[in-house]
Amino acid sequence: MSAPGDIKKQPEWIQAMTEALLQALKLRDPYTYGHSRRVGRNARKLAAAAGLNEFEQRTIELSSVFHDLGKLSIPDSILLKPGRLNAEETVIMKQHPLKSVEALLPLENIPVFKATLPGIRSHHERIDGRGYPDGLAGDKIPLAARIILIADTFDAMTTTRAYRKGLPFDYAYQELKVFSGRQFDPALVKIFLQAHPAWEDFEIEFQEEFIAKEAIGSPRKKSAA
Ligand SMILES: [Fe+2]
Repeated sequence: MSAPGDIKKQPEWIQAMTEALLQALKLRDPYTYGHSRRVGRNARKLAAAAGLNEFEQRTIELSSVFHDLGKLSIPDSILLKPGRLNAEETVIMKQHPLKSVEALLPLENIPVFKATLPGIRSHHERIDGRGYPDGLAGDKIPLAARIILIADTFDAMTTTRAYRKGLPFDYAYQELKVFSGRQFDPALVKIFLQAHPAWEDFEIEFQEEFIAKEAIGSPRKKSAA
């Protein structure tokens, strides 16, 4: 069986390049490394559940593992701050999607990497147009970005950080529903809510494997209060 977060079925050198970039992220911020791999896996599963083809699923997985690469540029005082960012810190943090794209630009001539850029750039756009960096709305937001946002937000809510416990899956499902049509694409939320419970056992196993190996993030079980 392949290791969690493997970029399956990519040519070997693309897998190696991907791993090298992820290792750089891991050296800087182990949580974001684990988060990126988990989001990659879940975004791919959501893309599959949404009926996207194998190429699209792979592209979305690759976009997801790189979506926060630009956090390498964010100072520790902001990146690792326990608790809310102030206005000035938020402005700096919001640069990270563009920084992720900037980091990958030298690979732009390679089609598989080029295809990841729109999803990476737009992964914090909101369906109501109030996201960043471009304030895109509705289906102007690349589908990959709308998928990544759901996997990203779900993982951020359900994993434990040094300063707060992860939320139970049921709570996270509820949040996705509440913000469906505002932050999230309603059709994708529906698909995620239908499909995700079937991934739960693997999800917990997957997150626990990260905890055992990397001490990064931990899940709350579905039944946790
Ligand atoms: Fe992000």
